[in-house]
Amino acid sequence: MPTAIQRAALSKQSTALDKADALKKFRARFHYPQLLGKNSIYFCGNSLGLMPKGVEQAFAQECKDWALWGVEGHWKAQHPWVDYHKPFSKLLAPLCGAKPMEVVAMNSLTVNLHLALASFYRPTKTRFVILYEAQAFSSDVYALESLIKLRGLDPATCLCVVESLDSKSIVKAIDKLGDRLALVLLGGVNYYSGTFLDIKKITKAAHHVGALAGFDLAHAIGNVPLKLHAWKVDFAVWCTYKYLNSGPGAAGGLFIHEDHAKDTTLPRMAGWWGHDEKKRFDMKPGFKAIPNAEGWQLSNAPVFNLAAQRVSLLLFKEAGLDRLFKKGKRMGAFFINCLTALGASEKKEKRNYSFSILTPMDEDSRGCQLSLQIHDKKGKRLFSELEKEEIIGDWREPDVIRLTPVPLYNSYAEIFRVADALCKRAYLRL
Ligand SMILES: Cc1ncc(COP(=O)(O)O)c(C=O)c1O
Repeated sequence: MPTAIQRAALSKQSTALDKADALKKFRARFHYPQLLGKNSIYFCGNSLGLMPKGVEQAFAQECKDWALWGVEGHWKAQHPWVDYHKPFSKLLAPLCGAKPMEVVAMNSLTVNLHLALASFYRPTKTRFVILYEAQAFSSDVYALESLIKLRGLDPATCLCVVESLDSKSIVKAIDKLGDRLALVLLGGVNYYSGTFLDIKKITKAAHHVGALAGFDLAHAIGNVPLKLHAWKVDFAVWCTYKYLNSGPGAAGGLFIHEDHAKDTTLPRMAGWWGHDEKKRFDMKPGFKAIPNAEGWQLSNAPVFNLAAQRVSLLLFKEAGLDRLFKKGKRMGAFFINCLTALGASEKKEKRNYSFSILTPMDEDSRGCQLSLQIHDKKGKRLFSELEKEEIIGDWREPDVIRLTPVPLYNSYAEIFRVADALCKRAYLRL
């Protein structure tokens, strides 16, 4: 156990870090779920981000415009519905390091993944393998398997799993597959362990063997800095209900690299909203793709769904991405410091639980999320004890607690409190 002096020093440090935090005023811009009649400590932004204040008014505005204008709202609403998706490309582009023409807000992550795969998985007799990670999110694997079957191929021969989730092992696997590899699909930040991959290096390796590289950025966007255009990523998909705080079921996003986005001859699943805007209402056959990411749109924008996203993305803009990512890193380092100091074990250990940190310690290989593996099948019990301390994290079978302090609405004092509550009960196994 740490000494009372060590504990007091960390607590004092958290107060000083909060005092110096230029982003602390943003905490007041969110609603906090109540636990035991108090604001909870919400460390669950990796699953569902908090609701920004102002979302209610944004919904109310769309209702008002619908009531006032009916169909005319498509042109006369405060944010005209016919072009509702357009400002989102500009707001999302900095979050993924893209040109606005490479980004579109639409559908949900899995739908966008299917749309991207339809364009970018074009197997030949000799090049047909898709490489993905052992701990991939289930929905991504279902999408891959179903697409392979739709193409009349066998997932057993077309899918290849890389077991170790580190960029070096992935590059090695890519090189080994060589000219059999058609596509790499990986989580930019793995949902389970929180590992942030070297997207640039992996993309380069894929291109080197003549394959394409796509990424699921559900746990990366708004969490870690991304440069998808410069890294020459071919496509990426994401959801916006986690770090982007856009609400349950919020519209996802799609990135298509400029080199592909401009190519209107690329095969795709098409819909009228991806068709030449000037001719959209001619209602004639003969699909002509918009020469940017919007060319993958199927339908008109989900206005109510996107209304919340606008409020949240404007908060990101106001706070500034550099400042947010810098604070995110500082918070992660402080969290690890607290866990290692307060969790240090002693010879005759009295604490009931023990844990290991699954997420890489190196700051370039993680974002805000720390995944803690709880040993001896006692994880669920520890998780419910934390809930009694007003802490909301999230539980992943079979033994992981994910805890995620985010720079927009969490504080250093909360990090200290969470680490203290955990380490009073559990020691860190090295
Ligand atoms: C990594 C990852 N991929 C895919 C999904 C599926 O997202 P959706 O239900 O929006 O399609 C999720 C959802 O949490 C996720 O975390």
